Amino acid sequence: MTPNEIKALIGKMTLEEKASLCSGLDFGHTKPVERLGIPMLEMSDGPHGMRKQEQNANHLGVGESIEAVCFPAGCASASSWDKNVLGRIGETLAREYQAENVGVILGPAINIKRSPLCGRNFEYLSEDPFLSGELAAAYIQGAQSRNVGTSLKHFVANNQEYRRMTASSDVDERTMREIYLASFETAVKKGKPWTVMNSYNRVNGEYVGEDKQYLTDILRDEWGFDGFVVSDWGAVNDRVKALKAGCDLEMPGSGGVNDALIVEAVKNGTLDEKTVDQAVERILTILYRFLDSRQKETFDRERDHEIARQAEEESIVLLKNEDHILPLRKGTRLAVIGKYAKAPRYQGGGSSHVNSSRLSAALDSLARYTGVSYAEGFRDDRDETDDALLNEAVRAAAAAEMAVIFAGLPEAFESEGYDRKHMRMPACQNALIEAVCEVQPNTVVVLHNGAPVEMPWIGKVKGVVEAYLGGQAVGDAVANVLTGRVNPGGRLAETFPLRLEDTPCFLTFGGENERCAYGEGVFVGYRYYISKKIPVLFSFGHGLSYTEFRYSNLVLDRAEMKDDETLTVSVDVENIGGVPGKEVVQLYIAPSKGSFIRPLRELKQFDKIELVPGEKKTVRFTLDKRSFAVWDTRQHGWYVENGEYAVQICKDAETVLLAENVRVAPVRPFVPQFTANSTLGEIMRTEKGRTVLAAMQSSAPAPEAADMDPEFMAAIMDSMPLRWLVSFVSGFTWEAVNGILYQLNH
Ligand code: BGC
Repeated sequence: MTPNEIKALIGKMTLEEKASLCSGLDFGHTKPVERLGIPMLEMSDGPHGMRKQEQNANHLGVGESIEAVCFPAGCASASSWDKNVLGRIGETLAREYQAENVGVILGPAINIKRSPLCGRNFEYLSEDPFLSGELAAAYIQGAQSRNVGTSLKHFVANNQEYRRMTASSDVDERTMREIYLASFETAVKKGKPWTVMNSYNRVNGEYVGEDKQYLTDILRDEWGFDGFVVSDWGAVNDRVKALKAGCDLEMPGSGGVNDALIVEAVKNGTLDEKTVDQAVERILTILYRFLDSRQKETFDRERDHEIARQAEEESIVLLKNEDHILPLRKGTRLAVIGKYAKAPRYQGGGSSHVNSSRLSAALDSLARYTGVSYAEGFRDDRDETDDALLNEAVRAAAAAEMAVIFAGLPEAFESEGYDRKHMRMPACQNALIEAVCEVQPNTVVVLHNGAPVEMPWIGKVKGVVEAYLGGQAVGDAVANVLTGRVNPGGRLAETFPLRLEDTPCFLTFGGENERCAYGEGVFVGYRYYISKKIPVLFSFGHGLSYTEFRYSNLVLDRAEMKDDETLTVSVDVENIGGVPGKEVVQLYIAPSKGSFIRPLRELKQFDKIELVPGEKKTVRFTLDKRSFAVWDTRQHGWYVENGEYAVQICKDAETVLLAENVRVAPVRPFVPQFTANSTLGEIMRTEKGRTVLAAMQSSAPAPEAADMDPEFMAAIMDSMPLRWLVSFVSGFTWEAVNGILYQLNH
C-alpha cells in the first residue's frame, strides 16, 4: 500500500476506529478494522526465540507458546563480538516469524548493564554502548532483510527491574547521551528498526512513554526514526499524554478504556485529531510493509537448532586455561559433574522464555568423545549441600584424570521482574567446586549464568568456560569447545568484578523513594574499573583462545586531523599458534588530559577475524568525530576538544598492545561567552583573554601581593571570578569589568 493509499484509508476511518487502532486487541495483536478490511498485526517476543502464543492465550499472555527454537540469550550472543552472528540470529528468527505470520519481533533488548545485579541482564547485550549499538544494528538488519520488523527495546534507561514500572532513572544529560542513549542511537540510525518499544520507567521524574523529548525530539527528529513507537506491555500511565509525546501504540490494550479517553480528548479539544491520524498512519505503514512483502518460509526447527549451536559456539568465552588444560585430549578419563551437564540452564525467565523444540546436553556429546563418568553434584531447587551428591561427585573426580563441573545460577536467581541481591553462586555449588578441587587438580568449571558471578575458587581450578545462557544447543556447543572441535573466540561484553562492592553503582543501585540517581555518570562498567585502577576478576573484552595472535604495524594515516575528517587505522594480526582461530581486534581511544572528565579509554571500533596458523591479516578501521567526542552540555552537542588522543589496540579493556597518537582539532572551536563570574584562569586560557588581561594589567595596579610566591598567586587567581578584581584591586570598577567583558565577547 502506498503512503497516499494509507492516507486515503485513514480518511475513511471514524475517530473511534482510529483510536481503537492505537491499542492492542490482546497480548500480541493490533485490532482489525473489518469494515475497511484492515487486518491485525501480530507481534511476538523476542529477542532470542519466538514466543508466539497458542491460540487460546489470555490477555495477560500467560499460557503456553508454540514450540520454537531458543537461540543464545543476549548475554551470550553479545560475547561473540560478531555482527554476522547477531545478523544471522535476526535473519533466522525473521524466517520463522514469516512462516508463522508474525510481523514484528519484540527485540533486540539493549539496555546498558549498569550493574551486574539487574535481573534482566541476561537478555541485554553489554555494558558498552558502542558494542551494544553495533550488534543490535546487525540483528535488526538481519531480521528486516526478511521483511519482518523488530522492536528495539526498552527505550530508555531501564537498567533495573526493581520497581521498573514506576521508578525514575535520574541521569544527567551527558551520561544519558554518551551511555544510555548512545546504544539506541547507533541501533536506530544504522539498523532502522520498524518499531521502538518505550520502557516502563521514568527518566528524571517523567515517564519515558510520556516524554516528547525522547519519543519525538531525539528519536524521530534527531535520529530519523520513522516507524511506530509501542509502549512496553502495560507501560501506559496517561494515554493521551503518551500519544501526544509520540507513543503510537499501547500494548496490550486496556479493553477500550484508554481508546475512549483518546476519543473524548479529541471531542473536547484537548487532543488534535491529527495526532491520532499520525499514530494510525505509522502503525498502518508498518502493518502494510509486512503484509505487502510476505515471504514464503517454513519454520525448520532442525535447521535453526544448528544455527543456534553455531551462534553459541561463536559466543562461548574461555576465561581461564592454566597449563593448557583445554582442549580435552581424547581418551582422557573424565568426571563430568553437575546437574547442568545433563540439564543445562540455557535461557532466562520472563517474557523471553521460549518453549524449546530440543535441548542438547554436553554430557551426551562428551560421552561420544571420551570415557566419562557422571555425578549430579548439587541440587538447584534449593541452596543446600546434599552430602550424598557431593560425596559421589568427589569420588568420581578422584577416580578420573580430569573433572569438568557444570555449574552456574539456578533459574530462580535471575529473571525479568526482579534484581539479584548479590553476585554469588549458590553456596552449595561453590562448596562442591572446592571439594572437587581438593581431590582433582585438573578441574575445569563450565558456567551457565546470565550475568557475572563471584568465583571464590578461581585460584584452585585450571579452567573456566563461560557458556552463559547459551540457548537450546548449548550442550553440543560447549562440548565442541571443550574438545577443541571449536576454538573459542568469544570475548566478555561485560566486566566480571571481583566483588559486588567494587561495582560503580554499588552504593546507589535500586535507588530510594523510587528515585535512582545515576551518580557514577559515564563511568559505567570498564570505564570505571580502568579509570580507578580497580582490579577485576575478568576485564571487559577478555577471552582466551587455543591459539595465539601477534599484533604489529599499527599505522594511522595522519598525525593530525580536524574533527570533520576521518582517520584510517590499520594493524596487522597474525596467528602464531598451531590451530585456526578467531580474534577480536579491539580499538580504544584514550584522550589526554583536557577540561572534560573522561574515562581512561573507551571502545570505538572492533572487528572479528579468522586466521589459520601462520596467516597474517591487516585490519582497517575508520574513526570519525564521534570516536573522539564528548557530549558538551554547554552546547548540547558532540564536541571534540583540541588535543592528543591515543589510538590503542587492546587485548581487553585493561591491556594495551599497541598505541599511536593523533592530534585532533575541532573545526568550530567552542568560544565561551564570558561573564563577570568567568574565572581569570578560564579567560587566560584563550588567546583573546590573554591579550585583554595583559592590556588591563599594564594600566591597572596589580593586586597587593608583594610578598607572595608568583606560582602560588597564579594558582589562586586561576579560580577567581573576574568580579573579584572589584573587591581586591583598588581603583578597579564595574565599568572596567564591563569593558573587559565587552572586549572579550565581541
Ligand atoms: C517486557 C517486554 C516484552 C513484553 C511482551 C514486557 O513485560 O518488558 O520486553 O516484550 O512484556 O511480552
